[in-house]
Amino acid sequence: MYVCLCKAVTDKQIRQAACEGACSMRCLNSKLGVATQCGKCARDAKQILRSSRAEIDSLASLSTSLSYQAA
Ligand code: FES
Repeated sequence: MYVCLCKAVTDKQIRQAACEGACSMRCLNSKLGVATQCGKCARDAKQILRSSRAEIDSLASLSTSLSYQAA
């Protein structure tokens, strides 16, 4: 689904950017151009970025927890 119509950026692209380390709107702005024109997408883009980062962080902590248990 398109999140940013001005720059034709989809939610998948935002999630991918989060997986590649984007952790702020500034990162998304420079990487994908999100919210750099009309700005109407900023709130939705931020929400997708936050939920993606939360998923990534919880998976990382689960992975760490499992590796401690295996050791
Ligand atoms: S919809 Fe994203 S800058 Fe306009």
